[in-house]
Amino acid sequence: MLALARKPGPDLPGVTPVAYDQSDESSIRRAASAIAAPVDYVLHNAAIRGDTGGLATLTADHLAEVMRINVAGPLLLTRALLPALAPDAVLSFISSRAGSFTEGHDPDGDYAYCLSKAALNRAVAKLADDLPQRVLALHPGWIATDMGGPGAPDDPDEAARRIVALLAGPACPPSGSFTDNWGLPIAP
Ligand SMILES: NC(=O)c1ccc[n+]([C@@H]2O[C@H](COP(=O)([O-])OP(=O)(O)OC[C@H]3O[C@@H](n4cnc5c(N)ncnc54)[C@H](OP(=O)(O)O)[C@@H]3O)[C@@H](O)[C@H]2O)c1
Repeated sequence: MLALARKPGPDLPGVTPVAYDQSDESSIRRAASAIAAPVDYVLHNAAIRGDTGGLATLTADHLAEVMRINVAGPLLLTRALLPALAPDAVLSFISSRAGSFTEGHDPDGDYAYCLSKAALNRAVAKLADDLPQRVLALHPGWIATDMGGPGAPDDPDEAARRIVALLAGPACPPSGSFTDNWGLPIAP
């Protein structure tokens, strides 16, 4: 397994770190060129939150920065990995219910994040139209990470295990779907 990240994580058996900055096109290309075929699973996880001050504090530059990391980065990595993908590979994009037009009613004023996850969901639907591989958007739950905060109800390790079981198991959702990490559909 390869773990693409800005800084190498803890030393885990069977996990090889690959330097990767999702905001930087040359880093994305370099990381992809270090990855040999066949790639069976890709899990796009990295993302940032945006400013939470609502419309009052939104700037075009900030919106562009969040879109660059949360949307352009995973798309460009996907393109760079195309030659290495197995024909039946599963490409999953960790999205958020915040990107749903109908279910994403967050009160925190983070326009950039909501917009980026809505765009990511649309990108997943477009990739599902264009690629033979299975392409999915997943809402991981409300997880106690730096982003989710210590008050979040879901444990990160448990959420990760559930996502891996979903993707590798018989209930893996169909291409183009947007689900939670149990595989239950979320309205776009
Ligand atoms: N936590 C939740 O409740 C929740 C809810 C819905 C969706 N999500 C989604 O779940 C995914 C994981 O979120 P999380 O909760 O683990 O967030 P997090 O605690 O903020 O971690 C974000 C991760 O993204 C990486 N990252 C950010 N910018 C990057 C860049 N330019 N290049 C490479 N890596 C970069 C960070 O790396 P560094 O360590 O180098 O900063 C970090 O590992 C995200 O897609 C998020 O939108 C989370």
